[in-house]
Amino acid sequence: MCGIVGYIGNREAYPILINGLYRLEYRGYDSAGIAVLNDNIQIHKCKGKVSDLEKHIANNKIIGNIGIAHTRWATHGEPNDVNAHPHYSESRELAIIHNGIIENYLTLKEELIKRGHEFRSATDTEVLMNLIEDIQKNEQVELVEAVRIALSQVIGAYAIVVLSKDNPNMLVAARKGSPLVIGIGKDEFFLASDATPIVEYTQNVVYLNDEELAVVQLGEELKIKTIKNKDKIPYVQKLQLSLSALEKGGYDHFMLKEIFEQPRSIRDSFRGRLNARKGDVQLGGIIDYEQKLINAKRIIIVACGTSWHAALVGEYLIEDLARIPVEVEYASEFRYRKPVIYEDDVVIAVSQSGETADTLAAIELAKSRGATILGICNVVGSSIARMTDAGSYTHAGPEIGVASTKAFTAQVTVLILLALRLAKIKGTISTSRFYTLITALESIPKKVENTLKVNDQVKSIAEKFMDVRNFLYLGRGYNFPVALEGALKLKEISYIHAEGYPAAEMKHGPIALIDDEMPVVFIATKKGTYEKVLSNIQEVKARKGKIIAIVTKGDTTVKEVADFTIEIPATEELLVPLLATIPLQLLSYHIAVMRDCNVDQPRNLAKSVTVE
Ligand code: AGP
Ligand code: GLU
Repeated sequence: MCGIVGYIGNREAYPILINGLYRLEYRGYDSAGIAVLNDNIQIHKCKGKVSDLEKHIANNKIIGNIGIAHTRWATHGEPNDVNAHPHYSESRELAIIHNGIIENYLTLKEELIKRGHEFRSATDTEVLMNLIEDIQKNEQVELVEAVRIALSQVIGAYAIVVLSKDNPNMLVAARKGSPLVIGIGKDEFFLASDATPIVEYTQNVVYLNDEELAVVQLGEELKIKTIKNKDKIPYVQKLQLSLSALEKGGYDHFMLKEIFEQPRSIRDSFRGRLNARKGDVQLGGIIDYEQKLINAKRIIIVACGTSWHAALVGEYLIEDLARIPVEVEYASEFRYRKPVIYEDDVVIAVSQSGETADTLAAIELAKSRGATILGICNVVGSSIARMTDAGSYTHAGPEIGVASTKAFTAQVTVLILLALRLAKIKGTISTSRFYTLITALESIPKKVENTLKVNDQVKSIAEKFMDVRNFLYLGRGYNFPVALEGALKLKEISYIHAEGYPAAEMKHGPIALIDDEMPVVFIATKKGTYEKVLSNIQEVKARKGKIIAIVTKGDTTVKEVADFTIEIPATEELLVPLLATIPLQLLSYHIAVMRDCNVDQPRNLAKSVTVE
């Protein structure tokens, strides 16, 4: 959600900033802007895409070696040219970009208005800008100190970068709750919301921590202090990110590339952790917490969206294999509903981005109650990864498409490993069953490859349904979260209304929706509740619903009833989500493309939701 880029060095800032904004597009935004300093601060900004900004700038020559740029995801004030960032201070001597929300902006704004300040935009960001300028002028302090004092008065979340006409060799940045990375090059610095705009210039980065303020200055070392004015020594890390991982590699969309990457990403998730020959599973990151986990009164998994669906699979897995009670909570509900949390609870946060504000707040709450906090994150060095006591990365690689695909299957893979490991050390699984399961897991990447062969078939099914208004997705057991995920994918990128339901719950309500225009996707794979799902299929058939069924290879029973069947390879029941999800990802992808939707950046959505 929202992207920040900053540059200071000896190169022209404009191309670096624009390219940086393109790299951050996947995060989701509604307007874009840029400010470069050259005698004066020159700002260009507009509603729309980064390409619209480029058109808007057209033939204006933007010269300068220092600048800031932003993609906005509006929270305060509608998405329009005026509310887009950067924002000038009243005197136009300063400019700011900001990601987050200043919660007490109204109180601050009223005070500033009383003091004679005027505002051009409806944003909370401009309030912070004018507060900084007001402090700088009235308290006669340097820019860095003015930023620090202003931030100590602010309630809310922010990642900011400030550009100043009077300090042409300096950028001041700070963060609380929203991410900010600083790239350190030779006589140059890069600032960004994540490492993607930085990776082609330098591998050396510093992740700013909450309530820290950074000063990057030409010819000087990076300086960091806290908002409370305590100096900090920057911790420089090496980036583990390759440029090629950020490009489309011949696919039409990042989403399709990421769907097709799953044989590799799932293998990467268990690489070094699963050894079928030795009959062993290990998750190095949480090794010190294994006893805590098996002795836990219960495990609470907090997450949002797709990660919440993966968490639900995790609940079934851990209870099934390791017999430890698990509760799965929407992080946004958990944080506000006064949950009962015991010190011997283990809370696991599942998050692709590692920056989701609700999930962060949920773990902060659990931490304050003394629970142990573990994380399952994809983005290395993300806020959740750093805030938890320990955790496991999913190693799916950068996920650029806003609709999560490979991150989901990687999360499920890590949760399978976790459930197997806990079951093994707790002794709730027999050696032969353990061996069967890890051998089956090892063969999953190959089966994912085979599953992907349904792509053309799914595309032809998509053609038949591209114009419908509603979809129902039904599954039971391990396939219930798969149904939820299938429905979410479809609504996110095609804007068709879709609902996921436990197949047996259908008769308690949604069955009323079924007529000859209603497509119903069943995940009807063998074993588990297969026979029961067959009855549910009949119930839909009797009401003339159109049935699309995901079935196990060789199944002939469902074929007789369903209008369309998509076959996936046979596997152990608890591994089915890793395969059954794939045709559903493809179905939503093709329908969205046929409806001419922006697949990689669906409307109103953001890749990492850094506001609550
Ligand atoms: C997934 O397709 C969504 N865009 C969204 O539901 C996402 O899963 C959710 O916002 C959680 O994000 P996280 O995994 O980065 O925490
Ligand atoms: N709250 C700010 C605004 O609405 C920043 C939003 C963002 O993170 O992009 O302008």
